[in-house]
Amino acid sequence: MPSHLPEILSQLNADMRSDSDWGEVAAYIPELAGIAPDQFGIAVATADGQLYSAGDAETPFSVQSVTKVFTLAVALGRSGDQLWKRVGREPSGRAFNSIVQLEAEEGRPRNPFINAGAIVVTDELLAGRAPRETLGEIVQFVRTAAEDEDIHINQRVAESENAHGHRNYALAHFLASTGNLKNAPEKTLGTYFHHCAIEMTARQLAMAGRFLIDSPQLPRMIMPPRIRRLNALMLTCGHYDGSGDFAYRVGLPAKSGVGGGILAIVPGVASVAVWSPGLNRYGNSLKGTEAMALLARQMGWSIF
Ligand code: DON
Repeated sequence: MPSHLPEILSQLNADMRSDSDWGEVAAYIPELAGIAPDQFGIAVATADGQLYSAGDAETPFSVQSVTKVFTLAVALGRSGDQLWKRVGREPSGRAFNSIVQLEAEEGRPRNPFINAGAIVVTDELLAGRAPRETLGEIVQFVRTAAEDEDIHINQRVAESENAHGHRNYALAHFLASTGNLKNAPEKTLGTYFHHCAIEMTARQLAMAGRFLIDSPQLPRMIMPPRIRRLNALMLTCGHYDGSGDFAYRVGLPAKSGVGGGILAIVPGVASVAVWSPGLNRYGNSLKGTEAMALLARQMGWSIF
C-alpha cells in the first residue's frame, strides 16, 4: 500500500470540513433526525492488514442500508440461488423506497438492495426461525468479518423506525398480497428494522467489508465467485437511482445507507468506509460520495 495514504486521508478530512454544504440528515427515522450533519470520518482496511483512518472514524453511526450487503451474503449462504426466484438483479432507477415499481412488477423487487428487495431477503432469512436467531446470525457474521465483538443493534433506532415506517409497511403488505412474503409483515419488518439499526464506526465498517476484497491474504468467509457477484450488485444497485452517477464518479462497487455511511470495495486491495450523515437527493451521503470520488482518483482506484 502506498505510504502516502495516511496523508491523503487527513487532507481529505480537512477538505471536507472546509466546505459548509453538508446535505440533509434523514428525517423520516426520528431517532436519526437530530444527528449533527457536520461530521465526517473515513477508514481504509487494506488486504495487507493495515487500517488507516481520519476524522470522526471512531464515532458509531447507524449503518442502515449498508447492512443489506451483509444480510444478502448470509441469505445466499443459506438459500443459494433459490433466492433469485423472489428478487431480481437489475438496477431499479428509482428511489430506494419506491412503491410504484413493486406494483408494476407484480411483487418481485428489482434487486436485493432497494427496501422491497431487502425485506424479501430478510423474510427468506427468517424461514423456520425466530427473529432473535436470525438477527443473532447477522450480527455474528458482521462481528466475525470485522474481527470485533463490540458491534451491536441500537434498539431505539429500530423502534423509532418501526413506529414511523409506513412506506416499508406498505411495501411489505403489498409483497404479502402477491404471495412474496412468507412471514407476517410485522415479523419480517421488525427483523429488517433491527438489522438496519446495527451501529458501527467507520473503522469497524472498513474492517467488516474486508470479506468482499477477495484477497488470499485475508480469512475467507465466502467463496470468490459469490464475492464477485456481490460486488457486481453493489456497483449496479448499491446507490439506487444514484448508482450510475456513483459508478461514473467513483468507479468502485459500493453500498450506501441513510445513516450516511458508504462501504466501497477496491477488489484485491482494500475496503473503504466513509461516514458523513448529511445526504444528497438520492439519500446517499453527500460528503461521503465526494470523499470517495477524490480518494479513488488520488489512489488511482477504479475497477475500470
Ligand atoms: O428501510 C429504510 O428506509 C431504512 N432502514 C434503510 C434505507 C436506507 O438506508 C437507504 N439508503 N440510502
